[in-house]
Amino acid sequence: MKKVRKAIIPAAGLGTRFLPATKAMPKEMLPIVDRPTIEYIVEEAIESGIQDIIIVTGKGKRAIEDHFDRNFELEENLASKDKIELLRKINQSSNVDIHYIRQKEPKGLGHAVWCARNFVGDEPFAVLLGDDIIRAEIPCTLQLIEQFNETGSSVIGVQTVEDYETHRYGIIDPISSNNRRYEVSKFVEKPKQGTAPSNLAIMGRYILTPEIFSFIETQEKGAGGEIQLTDAIQKLNAVQKVFAYDFIGKRYDVGEKIGFVKTTIDMALENDEIKEELYSYLKKKILELDLYN
Ligand code: G1P
Repeated sequence: MKKVRKAIIPAAGLGTRFLPATKAMPKEMLPIVDRPTIEYIVEEAIESGIQDIIIVTGKGKRAIEDHFDRNFELEENLASKDKIELLRKINQSSNVDIHYIRQKEPKGLGHAVWCARNFVGDEPFAVLLGDDIIRAEIPCTLQLIEQFNETGSSVIGVQTVEDYETHRYGIIDPISSNNRRYEVSKFVEKPKQGTAPSNLAIMGRYILTPEIFSFIETQEKGAGGEIQLTDAIQKLNAVQKVFAYDFIGKRYDVGEKIGFVKTTIDMALENDEIKEELYSYLKKKILELDLYN
């Protein structure tokens, strides 16, 4: 069985939920404290043993390529000022081999993944979406790779969400479960409120066999008028078993404003440089708010 060595990170979305911030800047570059969100995703892929990454970009995404490239002028400037720690930080992810391909039209997640088909070739591969940052002792993608190695089948990462949230996700209809791993009868993209077959939602992490590409190729537009990856997975599941795995880890939703702010607070409270000051500030703020309510 071939090993999972490659990962696709789709980053071509328009970022409309964060306008006007994302008018001229990719949403993947929005910082959580001092690191752009996409850096967390690339880090997870590397820590999961991925050797080759392709980022699917679109119009106005040049900053992502610059971020993972070296910046000699900045490096010289920091070195001349003896800012060694900063130098280390800016080069942390520039040593990884990252490839880029452009999705020329925003036709949806399925189509973005399809754009990377030649890079993937005939191998199983991982997909990591940038709207979900997952922090876990064993990186989420590695947990899914372990499931793939056991089963030889595609595996999709899921976690439970509240009833009122199901319409925002791909949702699975589970048949049976074994140690957090589910056999699935249906994958439904963004079911209408009240119609979700379960509360188990797809959380932006996938291990897929290359056969998925032939299903994406003929996939018609689905939810939101876009070519949906979930719909192609549903078709793949009819000919090749696709499992869902309820991974262990805390998932941060950075694709929504409120999730983004919560993530920033959580990560800032772990940051040695600012955590104490932030903690005192939050305490003071809560007292103030209580006084006026
Ligand atoms: C995408 C997927 C959806 C998944 C979600 C997770 O939707 O299509 O199945 O549940 O990511 O974040 P999007 O949020 O891009 O609309």
